[in-house]
Amino acid sequence: MLFNLIQSQMIYGTAWKKEATATLVEIAIKEGFRAIDTACQPKHYNEKLVGEGIQKALNGLNLKREDLFIQTKFTPIGGQDPNNIPYDKNETIENQIKTSLEVSKSNLQTHYLDSLLLHSPISPYSELLKAWRFLESFVHNGDVKQIGISNCYEMSLFQKLYEDATIKPKVLQNRFYEATSYDKELRVFCLANDVEYQSFWSLSANPHIVNSKELLQLSQKYQKSPAVIFYRFLVEIGISPLNGTTSDIHMKEDLSIFNFVLDKIDIEMIETLLL
Ligand SMILES: NC(=O)c1ccc[n+]([C@@H]2O[C@H](COP(=O)([O-])OP(=O)(O)OC[C@H]3O[C@@H](n4cnc5c(N)ncnc54)[C@H](OP(=O)(O)O)[C@@H]3O)[C@@H](O)[C@H]2O)c1
Repeated sequence: MLFNLIQSQMIYGTAWKKEATATLVEIAIKEGFRAIDTACQPKHYNEKLVGEGIQKALNGLNLKREDLFIQTKFTPIGGQDPNNIPYDKNETIENQIKTSLEVSKSNLQTHYLDSLLLHSPISPYSELLKAWRFLESFVHNGDVKQIGISNCYEMSLFQKLYEDATIKPKVLQNRFYEATSYDKELRVFCLANDVEYQSFWSLSANPHIVNSKELLQLSQKYQKSPAVIFYRFLVEIGISPLNGTTSDIHMKEDLSIFNFVLDKIDIEMIETLLL
């Protein structure tokens, strides 16, 4: 196994929470989440309520903005609801990104973002590179600490972007599932190049693993639920899972992954389930 320079984290996901978003974000931070993921994509995320939840939690817990890792995304037109696009779709890609970032900073009540992701690759590649160059300018001016990309499943594309980038992607956020062989090649590349691999659909795409007899046995051995064993496994192999639970019981349970370790033999066994 390659040594991972990145400290894996569990990131609270804010999609699909609608009017409960602020309350759930506040509870998640109170329960101990310190990383929050959202997007400037009103179709799936209420970013303004994410900002309200963050502020309430910061005030309630007497925390500072710097105590949190806040990540949002620029969503290209194809991923937006045509009737609710948070920028002018007729503008250049640069101006779309500029407006989207301004909206995000205002929604999230922050003057900087820890991480800004391109929600999906843009084609042609020349347009993707144009967008990337513009994202880089926000790292230069301090608006954003790091940039990354999501839903990029093609090794050759990610590698090309990595090579052409002046400021390298620090995050790859992908669906973690069988259809892409769990991004094995991409994950090796990420580990070797100091890129944080963030997974979504970690539980929902993998009931065959979470409910397997192997996980059930480990659940008994460690006295943790199979879901918790699986999340712990992800962190052990260098993945930062997103977790959008709406249950404070699951929040507590899932954050307990940082209080125990899995034996090497068990990690290797779960790895064989990622066929
Ligand atoms: N980049 C992208 O395109 C993209 C796409 C999808 C999602 N995301 C991000 O990823 C986040 C997470 O989304 P997700 O699709 O991975 O799924 P998720 O929202 O984390 O949901 C997974 C399911 O797991 C359940 N769960 C959580 N902890 C559990 C536990 N300990 N035991 C049993 N069940 C448990 C949840 O139910 P309960 O609510 O009952 O706990 C939920 O039904 C999103 O909010 C979003 O931020 C990004």
